[in-house]
Amino acid sequence: MPGCWLRGGGGPLVLLWALALPLASLRRSDRPKLLLLSFDGFRWDYIDRVPTPHFHDLIEDGVTASRVENVYVTKTFPNHYSLVTGLYAESHGIVANEMYDPATGRSFSMETDSIYEPAWWEQAEPLWVTLQNAGGRSAAAMWPGSDVKIHGLYPSRYLPYNASVTFEDRVARIVRWFSGPEGEAVDFGVLYWEEPDESGHALGPQSPLMDPVIADIDEKLGFLVAALKEAGLYEEVNLVVTSDHGMAQLSPDKIIELDQYLSRDLYTWVDRSPVVALLPKEGKLDEVLGKLADANPNMVVYKKEDVPERFHYRHNGRIMPVLIEAKEGWTVMQNRTGPFMLGNHGYDNSLRSMQPVFVARGPAFRHNYVQDSMRSVDLYPLMCHILSVDPLPNNGSLAAVRDMLSQEPPPPPPSTPGTAPSTPGTPPSGPPSFDVPPGADAHSYAPLVGSFLGVVMVLGFLVVYIKQVTLKQLPSLKHRSREMSQPLLQEDLHL
Ligand SMILES: *[C@@H]1O[C@H](CO)[C@@H](O)[C@H](O)[C@H]1NC(C)=O
Ligand SMILES: *[C@@H]1O[C@H](CO)[C@@H](O)[C@H](O)[C@H]1NC(C)=O
Ligand SMILES: *[C@@H]1O[C@H](CO)[C@@H](O)[C@H](O)[C@H]1NC(C)=O
Ligand SMILES: [Zn+2]
Repeated sequence: MPGCWLRGGGGPLVLLWALALPLASLRRSDRPKLLLLSFDGFRWDYIDRVPTPHFHDLIEDGVTASRVENVYVTKTFPNHYSLVTGLYAESHGIVANEMYDPATGRSFSMETDSIYEPAWWEQAEPLWVTLQNAGGRSAAAMWPGSDVKIHGLYPSRYLPYNASVTFEDRVARIVRWFSGPEGEAVDFGVLYWEEPDESGHALGPQSPLMDPVIADIDEKLGFLVAALKEAGLYEEVNLVVTSDHGMAQLSPDKIIELDQYLSRDLYTWVDRSPVVALLPKEGKLDEVLGKLADANPNMVVYKKEDVPERFHYRHNGRIMPVLIEAKEGWTVMQNRTGPFMLGNHGYDNSLRSMQPVFVARGPAFRHNYVQDSMRSVDLYPLMCHILSVDPLPNNGSLAAVRDMLSQEPPPPPPSTPGTAPSTPGTPPSGPPSFDVPPGADAHSYAPLVGSFLGVVMVLGFLVVYIKQVTLKQLPSLKHRSREMSQPLLQEDLHL
């Protein structure tokens, strides 16, 4: 009876493992840990719309930013890549969800396998690659771009993209990868969930049906926190919860029909509403611009060279010669046929409706601190600082978000003089040494903390063991309620 043997042997095994861990944890704790979680399309004000106790617990125990300016265009792929590179879209090269590259003649679409072509991503280097090159380890669960080989590397541990994998399963994998044995545990993880974006598109953010969707996200955050606690990681891991963008309410009364102004023979349609990218046919640029000028008061038409400076959205061959930006709430279509959504994002990144939530908690962060404003590109130098890795040149500023940190940044480790992870825009001057703990006083407390952790962990693992035995008897309610809500949420809404 192998099953019986396993069950019978589980207790002693867990105990042995727990006893062995304090030794490993001493060295493992030298390298701070960080988990970055994105709930796609979680607008900043969703947390005050329905009770979201788990978000509010993190805010009380950690930090939040009242206003986060993300990057233009406020779409999923550009913004997720900005979060892990600290670069504006024009500098990291993922300028939209749908792209055309005149230099290669290739097209990129979120909906095809083109996203697996490394060339699209290699104008920048995501943090997981940089960290791994510096000797660290990383893990990814479904984060856009994290299952693509970029500059020769995948994350040390990752899941190939599969929307059907539940949030709970993604969490289980990430937590397991963080709690691996010495030499295998990851230092940095990125975790992605498709909601509340999907529902926001389908229902529109103003729909009362969004309330349970937001409440469910809060439940999911609670699930993650509980999983980290059960694994004994909660006090060790810096948890950053944010999103790529917000969501604006649309209306079938607010449609701009491009066919009314411009013949389809004059251009190729590259990217979709609300910032439509057009590639005029050879020699037709002026005609296209002429026909669109003053055509409709609910859209702004930019020649690429005249895109406002504040968007940082000019200097890349993948940005098309003509952009049509709809005003908030408006949709640009060729005609009224085809799918229509009640919610969308992509608009001007200074609009409040486009901006994401930001909450962070952990040993690196202050308690109950509210940062007035930040840019989403500032997160990258902040994460590099926490992970003790030299940032690559980027558009963020550590100085702008340093107040969120629980202590003054440590002096540069003696073994790497001159490394200043706090200076954005400075190329790395050498690999950081992970043998030196980032906080100088961490050394003196280490033995004490180690023994204490040892006792706590033995107890912790016993609790986990007992809980897991108990949990196995319970039906999985969360999974069932999600399955039940799917058909409604995924229904296509057509005009
Ligand atoms: C995606 O995940 C689901 C649920 O875990 C699984 O049943 C399915 O086989 C996976 N699909 C692929 C292509 O791996
Ligand atoms: C709208 O465009 C589609 C192609 O995208 C075309 O098949 C259809 O006939 C057009 N409808 C009208 C009313 O022009
Ligand atoms: C953003 O950072 C990149 C890399 O340092 C740099 O090339 C680019 O000029 C920066 N953009 C802005 C607007 O400063
Ligand atoms: Zn998104």
